[in-house]
Amino acid sequence: MPIAPHGGELISRLASPEEGEALLARAASLPRVTIDGRTTSDLEMIGTGALSPLTGFMSAADYRAVIADMHLANGLPWTIPITLGVEPEAADALSLGAEIALANAGGDVLAVMTVEEKYTYDKPERCRAVFKTDDEAHPGVAATLNMCDVLLGGPVTLPRPIPHRRFLEHRLPPAETRALFAEKGWNTVVGFQTRNPIHRAHEYLQKCAMEIVDGLMIHPIVGETKSDDISAEVRMQCYTALMEGYYPADRVCLVVNPAAMRYAGPREAIFHALIRKNYGCTHFIVGRDHAGVGNYYGTYDAQYIFKEFDPAKLEITPLFFEHAFWCTKCGNMASTKTCPHGKDDHVFFSGTKVREMLREGELPPPEFTRPEIANLLLEAAKGAA
Ligand code: ADX
Repeated sequence: MPIAPHGGELISRLASPEEGEALLARAASLPRVTIDGRTTSDLEMIGTGALSPLTGFMSAADYRAVIADMHLANGLPWTIPITLGVEPEAADALSLGAEIALANAGGDVLAVMTVEEKYTYDKPERCRAVFKTDDEAHPGVAATLNMCDVLLGGPVTLPRPIPHRRFLEHRLPPAETRALFAEKGWNTVVGFQTRNPIHRAHEYLQKCAMEIVDGLMIHPIVGETKSDDISAEVRMQCYTALMEGYYPADRVCLVVNPAAMRYAGPREAIFHALIRKNYGCTHFIVGRDHAGVGNYYGTYDAQYIFKEFDPAKLEITPLFFEHAFWCTKCGNMASTKTCPHGKDDHVFFSGTKVREMLREGELPPPEFTRPEIANLLLEAAKGAA
């Protein structure tokens, strides 16, 4: 039996082609709200069921329950608010129960939403709950403080899938990854979240996990990330090269995750796990400082937070990993759980250190990443310079 989506049913808010045509025609005369890239990511994921059981942007009751208690109003675990903000003047002009069209900056209608609620919220309070800080230097806090002041709650319907130009063959919605896993005969699948090129530590975690499950879904974030993260285009080249060179083709798949990064550490780890459950994963990798940034979270906070939830409600099984490093004495990747040697034998690399090396035109060493990946990263860094 495949794992059930969160809440029991895989949501689809996508209209049939005929309904979509009618919806688009109706949308032409509706009040219009322009949404940004982050909100478009959320909208797409609501549409495909990646955020099941959500059928739209959050009501005030769900929003408050998520902020205060990390659950939806119906008691299901949920840690990140999924909201649509508008300016107060725009909100005043909208009537409750009315439909609005959600459009991108280019003016294309992406969805029709029924406005069931309008409510205000306290941004610093939201930041402290979600990010554990209201420091504007935190990229998630900065994005939240930039949001509009009134939130609209209500269901959405997408007249057609959100159009994309990039990574088309890797854009599988949850219904399709579920079908893919069934076709491959994978009963257990581990999901791997990443916003970075895959380095040795990632590969080590993935391969440890692959020893105990049937398949691996590499599921990189391709929505918005912070400006100094490596671009999704370069990362996708790296993932492909790594898979071709070092992974058995019948036990791994590469699917993009349209989500934007929040950098919310522990809360985002739960959110990431629930998304992967919707895509059909039975297991999810959480390593050190998952979805972290700067020094806002403890190394293993994103693992400890799982203790605050009823595993029967999460259903997906987290696989926790210690901070992994290259050990010069062992001659392989390891962690303190598997290596008896001292700190002097351990080689750790931080993203910051590697970005520095690339800026200086230096090739990251094989202890950090496979040579194919190091070359791709260096080429990309030269191109960007
Ligand atoms: S994240 O923001 O998506 O978490 P990243 O892409 O670097 O960042 O990490 C992907 C996953 O690998 C996360 O679960 C993270 O905790 C884990 N991870 C990254 N580096 C290490 C490491 N050296 N040791 C253990 N886990 C790691």
